[in-house]
Amino acid sequence: MTRPGKSLVAERDTKETVSILGGTGSLGFGLALRLGEAGYAVCLGSRDAHRADRAAAQARELVEGGTFVGCLNGEAVTTADRLVIIAVPFASHVATLKSVAAHWRAGQVLLDTTVPLATAIGGRPTHLVEPWHGSAAQQARSAIGDDIGLAAGLHTISAAALRDLAHPLDQDTLICGDSHAKVAVTAALERIRGLRVVDAGSLEMSRLLEGLTPVLIGINIRHKTHAGIQVTHLQARAALA
Ligand SMILES: NC(=O)c1ccc[n+]([C@@H]2O[C@H](COP(=O)([O-])OP(=O)(O)OC[C@H]3O[C@@H](n4cnc5c(N)ncnc54)[C@H](OP(=O)(O)O)[C@@H]3O)[C@@H](O)[C@H]2O)c1
Repeated sequence: MTRPGKSLVAERDTKETVSILGGTGSLGFGLALRLGEAGYAVCLGSRDAHRADRAAAQARELVEGGTFVGCLNGEAVTTADRLVIIAVPFASHVATLKSVAAHWRAGQVLLDTTVPLATAIGGRPTHLVEPWHGSAAQQARSAIGDDIGLAAGLHTISAAALRDLAHPLDQDTLICGDSHAKVAVTAALERIRGLRVVDAGSLEMSRLLEGLTPVLIGINIRHKTHAGIQVTHLQARAALA
């Protein structure tokens, strides 16, 4: 893999690095663009070093002044200052977490975006399968150590909306999980233009939050759009400009 050039390493020294496992994919790449735009150095993780490098180069073209590097998934965990986001299909969720198990440091936080769509077993994107543990995020809990903070979120944010840098997101994401993990995740995600984070409780709520995605996919199919959600009657939305 091409190592980051000297200037990129210097930029990463001054910016906090967030890593994305599956940063080459639809959700992961869109998220990388938004986090890069928000001032984070972003490490795009992949199983393949060349794919990661290509995605990072493409992100640098799309976000002026953005700092992006491509890494193997394990290296992405090592590189993250604190926050690691997993954005891979449900079918490869546990395998991906197991593949990076040796790279975690105490104090790091995982944000799990996984939705257990029935497409993993040849079913419909509007159907969900029920993981043994209750949800994909609860499955992640069993796959990473207790030293790692865990939150789940972004289930209702479409990759298309993330990639559309011409517009702020103008929507909410419901997150759940460990208290200190939610603090770290909220601090990072609320730097994304137009995204508000709403605390939806403990990790047990992930089963319900993951279930929102097939509902939205059905709406999107019927209305030919990329719908998101907004929760009403909460405090004023943070700066959405
Ligand atoms: N797409 C959305 O709008 C959206 C919205 C909300 C939540 N989500 C959730 O986000 C997660 C990612 O969705 P996505 O649409 O971004 O997925 P995707 O584009 O199909 O895949 C994301 C990345 O996962 C890696 N991957 C794919 N198959 C794999 C396998 N068999 N084993 C290991 N890694 C594999 C690939 O990275 P490498 O090949 O580079 O390793 C790929 O670029 C899913 O759990 C989805 O439910 C997606």
